[in-house]
Amino acid sequence: MAKIIFHGHSFLEIQTNGKTILIDPFISGNPKCDIKVEDAKCNYIILTHGHGDHFGDCIEIAQKNDATIIATAELATIVGEKVKSHGMNLGGGYNFDFGRVKLTLAHHSSSTPDGRYAGDPAGVILTIEGKNIYHAGDTALFYDMRLIREACKIDYAFLPIGDNFTMGIDDAVKAVDFLNPKITIPIHYNTFPVITVDENEFKRKVESVFKKCQILNPGESIEF
Ligand code: NI
Ligand code: MN
Repeated sequence: MAKIIFHGHSFLEIQTNGKTILIDPFISGNPKCDIKVEDAKCNYIILTHGHGDHFGDCIEIAQKNDATIIATAELATIVGEKVKSHGMNLGGGYNFDFGRVKLTLAHHSSSTPDGRYAGDPAGVILTIEGKNIYHAGDTALFYDMRLIREACKIDYAFLPIGDNFTMGIDDAVKAVDFLNPKITIPIHYNTFPVITVDENEFKRKVESVFKKCQILNPGESIEF
């Protein structure tokens, strides 16, 4: 059995096959996060890109847990100065001991909180226990999302809807059309004033095109 816990913003915790994986563990400075840095336990951390609201507390958490950080090559090299890391790049997949990780395109930018170039930003397809989970990272809407849909059946799509830095509601609804996931969960909204949107408007619009949308509050989870 697997569990995906939403911890606010773009931060997910995935428990599967006796391992715990964190994606974009933004805790310090995240008013929506429901856990403390010292409570974050994991074997792996996946970073979609280097921005502070995704990079978050990854170094401290990786050090405390002896965890490996998975990221695009340039970002993996930077964090690799301090902790174990596994570099990948867009379009590449790798079978880890918990499941498969494939990095996808994301149309955005990427640098570390201290201003270093961090390669391309990414989305992530995680394949665990027979399900495909897509975490889009920070991205604009892009037409090649249709290629993701052709390549794999997405069970859970975590899509940014907060506008300003990423897709807003209407572009994210179009992304649902391109991706056709079984269930869409909105992320990257209402953390800061500049990304304030009405998540229920997103849910209504997704449901109006006969797709499923589930809003998770920080601390809530999905099990399968
Ligand atoms: Ni970003
Ligand atoms: Mn962001």
